[in-house]
Amino acid sequence: MLTSSNKLKLAVFGFNGGAAFTNHPDRYRPTWESNVRIAQMADRMGMEGAISASRWKAFARDGHYSGDLYETFTWAAGIAAVTKRLCVMSTVHLSVMHPIISAKMSATVDLISNGRHGLNLVCGWYPAEMGMFGAAMGDHDDRYALAEEWVPAFDRLWKDEHSFDYKGKFYDLKQAIIQPKSPHPRPVLMNAGGSERGREFAAKNVDVAFIVPQDPRPEALKKQVDFYRNFAREKYGREIKVWMSSYVVQRASVQEARDYVQDYVVNQGDSEGIDSFMANNIGNSHNVPTGVIEQMRFAIAAGYGGYPILGTAQDIASTLSMISEAGVDGVLLTWMDYEGGLKQFGDTVMPLLEKTGLRSPAPVYPD
Ligand SMILES: Cc1cc2nc3c(=O)[nH]c(=O)nc-3n(C[C@H](O)[C@H](O)[C@H](O)COP(=O)(O)O)c2cc1C
Repeated sequence: MLTSSNKLKLAVFGFNGGAAFTNHPDRYRPTWESNVRIAQMADRMGMEGAISASRWKAFARDGHYSGDLYETFTWAAGIAAVTKRLCVMSTVHLSVMHPIISAKMSATVDLISNGRHGLNLVCGWYPAEMGMFGAAMGDHDDRYALAEEWVPAFDRLWKDEHSFDYKGKFYDLKQAIIQPKSPHPRPVLMNAGGSERGREFAAKNVDVAFIVPQDPRPEALKKQVDFYRNFAREKYGREIKVWMSSYVVQRASVQEARDYVQDYVVNQGDSEGIDSFMANNIGNSHNVPTGVIEQMRFAIAAGYGGYPILGTAQDIASTLSMISEAGVDGVLLTWMDYEGGLKQFGDTVMPLLEKTGLRSPAPVYPD
């Protein structure tokens, strides 16, 4: 669960699809069997979460592997059924997932998992995938205005024992209710709003916000984390957790890891996929500081735009310690090759994190 007592929480992110744009032969290719193996490995090693990414349409062209992501609620139901402890998170495109359908599906996954479902709320930024639903994507701030209505509607559906009306600009629910009810509190809500408007939404509504580090130096990271946390505290009187996303490459040295990333991102890179991602993303996200587009392109191709964690097991543990010291509560981890990478992480990095006190050894697995 995300509420474990570990100082630094960890979750595997995006293995319902894959994290890298590359033609490298070791690129992860999701099958149901590989999803189950990864989720169970993370569960046994005591990680707090398994978090899906959501995408409805491939980049570049029909059939491109970037469209091969398992749908996130049905994925969560399956993963919930084969795991025991970790929080299973569905990423949800709010404008195309009605709050009634989402609340009923979430309650179902909550019942399957005994309270281990969570939601990563996204507003959508890829016009072609939102266009498939016959709906214009809408202006960036309007998408967050819809999100501001979606969350209270979801909350009431989760809790209210009696049918209720709910009318706003985007929703008109008449005598709405969901059953069966969950006996648990509302699922953990996450959001990665990077723009000012996104930050407002996250600070006001969710439990966990993501930052995308703008500057890799520890003091800059700490400043960014403090700013987000204080913003939520001062403006909305809310305590939120701050997480970030990383891609991990473990090799015999930092240089070897860098060379490996360079090889899979550049030499064996998939320019068709990443060109299309960038062409769509840059025009529609407000989260792109000028001058960092090339770094962003590299990080997205390397692993979902995450912060690089490279080198030996010791280097990886040290970087995670630095991240924790900067005040980050949890890290989403991705690998170009999830299965091999996660196993190596569990065998060699987890024991180092336990030694430094960032994490406790995983309790005996309840067989
Ligand atoms: C860790 C992380 C995970 C994300 N996952 C998804 C996703 O699965 N699907 C999606 O459409 N957008 C995803 N996003 C994009 C965000 O929802 C958002 O569009 C982006 O951070 C820009 O912020 P803004 O909406 O405030 O401009 C993700 C972003 C981050 C940082």
